[in-house]
Amino acid sequence: MRKIIIDCDPGHDDIMAILLALAHNEEFEILGITTVAGNQTLDKVTANILKVEDWLGIDIPVYKGYDAPLIRRPEPQPIAHGESGMDGPVLPDPVSEPQKLHALEFMKQAVSENDKVTIVALAPLTNIALFLKTWPELRRKIDCIALMGGSVYGGNIQKKSEFNIYHDPEAAKIVFDSGVRIIMAGLEVCYAGSILLKEAEEFKNGGKVSKLCYDLMQFYGLYAVNRGWDRTAVFDITPVVYLLKPELFEAEEMDVDIELDGEYTRGMTVCTSPAEHPKTVLLNTDREAFISVFLEALDLLDKRYV
Ligand code: BDR
Ligand code: CA
Repeated sequence: MRKIIIDCDPGHDDIMAILLALAHNEEFEILGITTVAGNQTLDKVTANILKVEDWLGIDIPVYKGYDAPLIRRPEPQPIAHGESGMDGPVLPDPVSEPQKLHALEFMKQAVSENDKVTIVALAPLTNIALFLKTWPELRRKIDCIALMGGSVYGGNIQKKSEFNIYHDPEAAKIVFDSGVRIIMAGLEVCYAGSILLKEAEEFKNGGKVSKLCYDLMQFYGLYAVNRGWDRTAVFDITPVVYLLKPELFEAEEMDVDIELDGEYTRGMTVCTSPAEHPKTVLLNTDREAFISVFLEALDLLDKRYV
């Protein structure tokens, strides 16, 4: 059983990634969920995961982390995720509250008390960078950091930069240079694993969890619909699918340097090989097999949460 901490900024795709991990409770023990400013403010993204937990009747502890990047100002993404950070589903305000412990203190406790912990990072890397800096002696207790972020070729928020890395490049640099094993699911592999809009349309015929995903996709999919695309990447599910089924992926060991200062390239992940300090960079996947993993997880959850 893999013990995981999910660091996130929900976020439509963050929620779908958490659902995927939740479905596989034979594979993952979710020790806790930590939140960070990214897609929306810290308060909003924290409320979003709590809303979903209340609605499902589950209580994975949620710990609030940092409300801003290390140096730069937050730049929320209402175009991609709406004013709430999770526009689409209409869910009541959460009754549950985040834990009193700060995300960093929780990470310290969880990593100290467990043998090997995997960090699943679905957001700007602010919390994780500060954790690694504050307790460097705990780095050896982390199995790996499986993250969604970066790209080999082009960007999404900027021509060359992906949002999670762009939002806090200084934090990304600390994480990538930490010596902890990194699995990077960048834009290319996420696009390769895109869901067809017609596949997502079918969610409305499923159970409670599928219907939640249908509502999420009604807003999240608009970006693709407005551009005439037939599919959209559900970015954050990618590192979770990899942890479940690494055999579905093509990957290369590469150096990944983070651009901090470029006028056009801030937040770019400069990926090169042969590598001196290798990171596992996921490059491609078998779309149909990849999406089946997600669809099967929704079936499982529909049976579990009625
Ligand atoms: C990443 O940015 C966010 O909008 C998504 O949740 C994902 O983590 C994609 O670039
Ligand atoms: Ca995210």
